Amino acid sequence: MSKLKVLMATVAVVLLIAAGAPAQFFLARDPGVRGGPAGAGKMLDGLTPSQATFFAAAQEEFEESDTLDEGLGPRFNLDGCAGCHSQPATGGTSPEVNPQVAVATAFGARNVVPSFITLNGPVREARFKYTAAGARDGRVHPLFVISGRNDGTADASGCTIQQENFDAQVAANNVIFRIPTPVFGAGLIEQIPDRTILANRDANTLVKAALGISGRPNHNGNDQTITRFGWKAQNKSLLIFAGEAYNVEQGITNELFQTERDETPSCQFATTPNDVMNTDGTSVDVLSDTLRFAVFMRFLAPPRPSPNTPGGFVSIARGRVLFGAIGCTLCHTPTLRTGPATIDALSSQPANLFSDLLLHNMGPGLADDVLQGDAGGDEFRTAPLWGLGQRIFFLHDGRTNDLRQAIQAHKSFGNLRFRSSEANVVVDRYNILGESQKQDVLNFLRSL
Ligand code: HEC
Ligand code: HEC
Repeated sequence: MSKLKVLMATVAVVLLIAAGAPAQFFLARDPGVRGGPAGAGKMLDGLTPSQATFFAAAQEEFEESDTLDEGLGPRFNLDGCAGCHSQPATGGTSPEVNPQVAVATAFGARNVVPSFITLNGPVREARFKYTAAGARDGRVHPLFVISGRNDGTADASGCTIQQENFDAQVAANNVIFRIPTPVFGAGLIEQIPDRTILANRDANTLVKAALGISGRPNHNGNDQTITRFGWKAQNKSLLIFAGEAYNVEQGITNELFQTERDETPSCQFATTPNDVMNTDGTSVDVLSDTLRFAVFMRFLAPPRPSPNTPGGFVSIARGRVLFGAIGCTLCHTPTLRTGPATIDALSSQPANLFSDLLLHNMGPGLADDVLQGDAGGDEFRTAPLWGLGQRIFFLHDGRTNDLRQAIQAHKSFGNLRFRSSEANVVVDRYNILGESQKQDVLNFLRSL
């Protein structure tokens, strides 16, 4: 089919759908965070009793807050994984009340809370785009220091390092934000073979090309396999992410990341690396914290959609069809299958993640000017949408809690630095839907 024919066909589909719409007296709106019990947070179905024991021990560690004698700091963003990954259950994303405000001054610490951290805003980590010398930076700059903190396990009053001046960096437009991505079902994402990701990229190429959608995987520089975790698909595995997060978010060194990011001697209260395996142990108790985090995330069940709320299942079913008809599924692939895995519960399973795990150019409106692996300043991994119904904040920087704005943010036109968004045409097709069709799409999204 020619490009023109594809476009004409799709316009016809959309017009047909719009023609069937009843007269409209309302504007579609985001029904908001779905109520009811959390649709996530339990372990995978089909784990063995022994694996279930590992999961329970691992969850306990993921939920723990760490102290100075466990290696917290010297610089950190929070004191535990579950503080950032908690909505709607442990393993999720940013909670309603941001725990970073309280941790800033907990146990006598004297941190100033930066302007972009608010009590009812999203948990955020900050990256700087450029160094003072004008070179590329892109690193996470932890918000807080342990100076003055005495949490009963150690006294950091002799530690005098200072916070960086975040508000000056904000004024210089040099800071970008990232909010936590949920890890429900992450073990399934880990087990999707590279070839499955590539075959999905190579499906529907004519339609994708007609709509301006391409997409490419991010790679690990050393073994050249496809990386898939994080907003830019910058990370290979849950274990590597766990080791890195322990050091970057909490300042806790471990067997994957052995040296402290800030080595000021007066600010160290545990031997380095802070977290190691227990060589006196015999069973689950051998595992390092880092391994436990990986096990917990790997064994977490995917979010369970709710077929009947909000808007009712008929509206949700219509929304699902529209989501495909207008082209959202060309990036937000409903299902990718895992390959054969050593853990039965993860082996040859459908992962209903609503992502192709590829990077897309998303336009200057979303660009953060940070490079990670192959990902350019305007490229992001298609955000997996499973669990969306119970997420509070959207997009990599948490700029909105309204699904309508999250959709409109997909559209922006290129400038001298960044290309146009690959999603522009799909957003146009969404925008010409009738309001009741848009409501169906939003209801569908909140059912996930
Ligand atoms: C201060 C908040 C914060 C803390 C504490 C934190 N994280 Fe995260 N987490 C984030 C943010 C922000 C991202 C997204 C990072 C990015 O892609 O730039 C993230 C992403 C992740 C991801 C990637 C998931 C995916 O599919 O993209 C994993 C895995 C993860 N974190 C594990 C952990 C573990 C394990 C811990 C505890 C050792 C932890 N995190 C502690 C904020 C936090
Ligand atoms: C070209 C690929 C592409 C298309 C087409 C696309 N998306 Fe996305 N979507 C993305 C990427 C990439 C992100 C993450 C962007 C960011 O955070 O900067 C995203 C994020 C989202 C989010 C926010 C998720 C979160 O956890 O923050 C929602 C909601 C969403 N998309 C819905 C849609 C809908 C509805 C459509 C169809 C109208 C659509 N998308 C079409 C690539 C796409």
